[in-house]
Amino acid sequence: MTPLEVDGLRVAVRRRGKALTVLDDVSFAVGAGQCLGIVGESGCGKSLTLRAAMGLLPPGAVRTAGEVRAGSGLAMVFQDSHASLDPTMRIGSFVADVVRRRQGASRAAARRQAVELLAAVGVPDPGLRSRAYPHELSGGMRQRVAIALALATDPGVLLCDEPTTALDVTLQAEILRLLDTAREERGLGVVLVSHDVAVIRQVADVVAVMYAGQIVEAGPASEVLDRPRHPYTRALIDAVPTLDRPPGPFRPIPGAPPDPAAYSPACRFLARCAHRAPACQEVVPGIHALDERHRSACVHQEGT
Ligand SMILES: Nc1ncnc2c1ncn2[C@@H]1O[C@H](COP(=O)(O)OP(=O)(O)O)[C@@H](O)[C@H]1O
Ligand SMILES: [Mg+2]
Repeated sequence: MTPLEVDGLRVAVRRRGKALTVLDDVSFAVGAGQCLGIVGESGCGKSLTLRAAMGLLPPGAVRTAGEVRAGSGLAMVFQDSHASLDPTMRIGSFVADVVRRRQGASRAAARRQAVELLAAVGVPDPGLRSRAYPHELSGGMRQRVAIALALATDPGVLLCDEPTTALDVTLQAEILRLLDTAREERGLGVVLVSHDVAVIRQVADVVAVMYAGQIVEAGPASEVLDRPRHPYTRALIDAVPTLDRPPGPFRPIPGAPPDPAAYSPACRFLARCAHRAPACQEVVPGIHALDERHRSACVHQEGT
């Protein structure tokens, strides 16, 4: 069974007494040992997608359609590791508690496993460090502990919501490498959410691009990021500096994503799109297959 399959997901939130659809027909699958990157600007629905998959929607948000099938356990890592760590507990005890609850291991065995997990995520001197409290650790080290904590539940898929956004570039690369190692060594499926194309490019083998609550393009990373077919993907890529592109002026995407109250049945990127045509107003663009693995929601299919 596929470790995680999300099919036709729709989520609504309550705002001023009205139900507002914020996620619309979101579908994706994550295989064992695969890393799916979900990328898009802030507010486009990335966090709600992960929370809906995890079954952890915030109060006021409900799934109104679609299915989530998880063939194995899911665990989540957040941008802010303070959210997942207990400030009053030594990190080793905290991780050991999760191991104990999960496996019914003895106190000593759980303790040993906790130290092993801390070592596996690159905490130096893990025996000693396991006695530290979260506030005694740097941001990068805390994020490693948060990943150890997630791994302690032995998940099939790790859902990571902007796990490196609060970190500087060097730490960011280290954490991404760590996720990559866990993927390789444990056959862990990873969903990595980021607003940053450069982060997604470093680790994802499959990419889904989200805009205004919908997936507008998806496929193998090499296809989507090197030969984007949706104008929004193209615009996202052009808006960030990358090492493998000649330096030039960044071209930020003009305007901002629409508010969910203004989501239309026509193309939601229309107002900001460099390739808009009169027909775009009339067509309701469903995401459709370009080939076996690549999907796009643009009716023009430009950029080939
Ligand atoms: N708890 C909530 N209640 C109401 N609206 C929410 C809630 N969480 C998110 N939203 C709205 O849903 C949309 C998607 O949010 P989110 O998933 O957090 O986006 P992203 O993670 O891509 O920045 C946004 O318009 C946001 O304002
Ligand atoms: Mg978010």
